[in-house]
Amino acid sequence: MTVIPIRTDSRSYEVRIGAGLLDTLGRAVCACTRAARCVLVSGENVWRLYGERAEQSLRGAGLEVFPVVFPPGEDTKSLARYGELLECMASCRLTRSDCAVALGGGVTGDLTGFAAATYQRGIDYIQVPTTLLAAVDSSVGGKTAVNLPEGKNQVGAFWQPELVLCDTDTLRTLPERELRAGMAEVIKYAVLGDPELFEKLRRREISEEEIIETCVRMKAEIVGEDETDQGKRRLLNLGHSFGHAVENRSGYRLLHGEAVAIGMAMICRAAAHLGCLSPEEAAAVVGLLQAYGLPTESPWPPEELEDAMLLDKKFASGKLSLIVPERIGACRIVPTAASELKGWLEAGYERSV
Ligand code: NAD
Ligand code: GLY
Repeated sequence: MTVIPIRTDSRSYEVRIGAGLLDTLGRAVCACTRAARCVLVSGENVWRLYGERAEQSLRGAGLEVFPVVFPPGEDTKSLARYGELLECMASCRLTRSDCAVALGGGVTGDLTGFAAATYQRGIDYIQVPTTLLAAVDSSVGGKTAVNLPEGKNQVGAFWQPELVLCDTDTLRTLPERELRAGMAEVIKYAVLGDPELFEKLRRREISEEEIIETCVRMKAEIVGEDETDQGKRRLLNLGHSFGHAVENRSGYRLLHGEAVAIGMAMICRAAAHLGCLSPEEAAAVVGLLQAYGLPTESPWPPEELEDAMLLDKKFASGKLSLIVPERIGACRIVPTAASELKGWLEAGYERSV
């Protein structure tokens, strides 16, 4: 088992990564919370595969467990499901010392985290990521949210978990398309700050466990410095500004990771076109995304993405922080006015790389 400490201003906790950890869940929850009861939140697919084991482990440790199972998919990250979950917590008479456990991917984690952040002004929660994307990114760092019809993650809170328990065995059942979507976030970390990871991915000389560990270590460092997205953490949005617009425009038929892959390819093309990144490196990033079976072209033209981008919650004082690669392993935050977005989007369509 690998243990990575996360230290933020609001809380310190561990990310545990290893095979077979699901059976340690109950003991781990009892060790890091004062809970006597918990809601165990999951999606239908994950519940079928791992629900019983997780529940047994929690009950075995003496906890009273209330399973709450939602349909799979991004639609579950809604105000309606959030309200349902809060009502379940209340009807199970969860108190402020009890906790919530999120067993699943980013959708389950984001929804459960936000309910935990707000139920009785905040209770403990534990992340048990079962997708690659959740393991390397969404389960760590305390960003919790639900969507509005107008845009992604429009309602949320920073609320750190008490523990992240990643049983790598659970990733064995992940559908191929979901695994590929997770690789988009992995490639994001490589482009952001780790040329060595980029090279290992290119040569396919890296194990899944090493991938997760490398990404979580980078996220730990960034979140440790900037818990609430005031500066360095914004770098983690590489590919997301265009990506969220693509995801929204697709009506969530594209997976989050697929949309991020398109967003990353577009910002690399734009950076090359505008002279910030060499065309060779832009082509290398696009090539790596394609090698991992990810899409790299937006089916929608710039003007259709522009509208969706104007809703980005990261717009502040009339500017959006675009994350622009300068070389593989280094990116820059570029404050961009709404009037400049179209230029970046159009450059992102430039097919020369
Ligand atoms: P997801 O949670 O929708 O899960 C993907 C699919 O895989 C679902 O159908 C699920 O049922 C299935 N599944 C999950 N684990 C499985 C397993 N082990 N075996 C078989 N099937 C399994 O998708 P995701 O990619 O994990 O998360 C995407 C969400 O994460 C988006 O809403 C995105 O906005 C969010 N996100 C949040 C952060 C953050 O910092 N909070 C970061 C990145 C992404
Ligand atoms: N995934 C973006 C962040 O955690 O900040």
